[in-house]
Amino acid sequence: MGCVVCEDTGWKAVEQDGVRRMARCDCWREEIIRRRLADARIPKRYQHCDLSNFITYPNEKLQNAVASVKKFCERFPVVDKGLFLIGPPGIGKSHLAVSALKQAILRCGARGLFYDVRELLKLIRSTYNPVVKTAEMEVLRPVLDADLLVLDDMGAEKTSEWVEETLNLVVNTRYNERRPTIFTSNYEEKEQTGAGDSLLERVGFRIHSRLFEMCDFLEYDGADFRHAPPNPGPDTLFGLWKLHPPTGRMPDRTQGPARAQLRDGKADLKWPGGRAGSRG
Ligand SMILES: Nc1ncnc2c1ncn2[C@@H]1O[C@H](COP(=O)(O)OP(=O)(O)OP(=O)(O)O)[C@@H](O)[C@H]1O
Ligand SMILES: [Mg+2]
Ligand SMILES: [Zn+2]
Repeated sequence: MGCVVCEDTGWKAVEQDGVRRMARCDCWREEIIRRRLADARIPKRYQHCDLSNFITYPNEKLQNAVASVKKFCERFPVVDKGLFLIGPPGIGKSHLAVSALKQAILRCGARGLFYDVRELLKLIRSTYNPVVKTAEMEVLRPVLDADLLVLDDMGAEKTSEWVEETLNLVVNTRYNERRPTIFTSNYEEKEQTGAGDSLLERVGFRIHSRLFEMCDFLEYDGADFRHAPPNPGPDTLFGLWKLHPPTGRMPDRTQGPARAQLRDGKADLKWPGGRAGSRG
């Protein structure tokens, strides 16, 4: 409040080629961006995330992923496809997704939205009413309509008919409307072995086939940042990556509490393949 330029009207007089006309004041734009950022549901944990504070090191796939995210940010909203960031835990997929989301809001005033897939499903479930679908649509409408949506942790919740139907509605609507979406997932493209740990098995074939048309796939691995000492530099991350190369197997994502403990730094998990989960 208290803009000395426009006296809070949101309009200011400008002169161009000797002609006086009214234009939007900068404070108006700043206020919209402030509101859009606040409405984007970016978790506190990720609010600091930016491309400028994402540490890179000699890791070609990671560097390519960062370059693609950068290009996406520069071109947004004129983008044909969204992004799908895939890889093991702690390599900065959510960080990069949030960075792009924030850029889209800050640069273009986009209506951006972040949802962890499980959170979204939980929220829809809690409003689910088979008779009146209005409450459900109150949650879903902004998700379907957002200029840029981040769906974090695809495949984290095992599919059921309802989950698949709900996510399919989201993915399909955005696909049809050509609205870009950034997905992240731990589940990579690989042959189905019946273990249920391929992307296809986690999201179902209908969504899976859409994803390929909707997104550039950025698959990479790297150091698990959560296992790095405080304020690591590129050398530390490079060393950590070489010391503990990801095994290619994902931890069992159905073990929710264990994962939450890991996130909060309360667990010292043994990784599949004997990769120690100790810090430092
Ligand atoms: N290269 C990096 N530079 C700076 N910070 C990083 C980097 N990689 C990860 N981080 C930070 O480490 C934390 C974990 O990263 P993030 O949550 O993005 O990983 P993720 O790949 O999404 O993991 P998960 O698969 O478990 O969701 C975040 O706080 C993030 O900001
Ligand atoms: Mg993540
Ligand atoms: Zn003003």
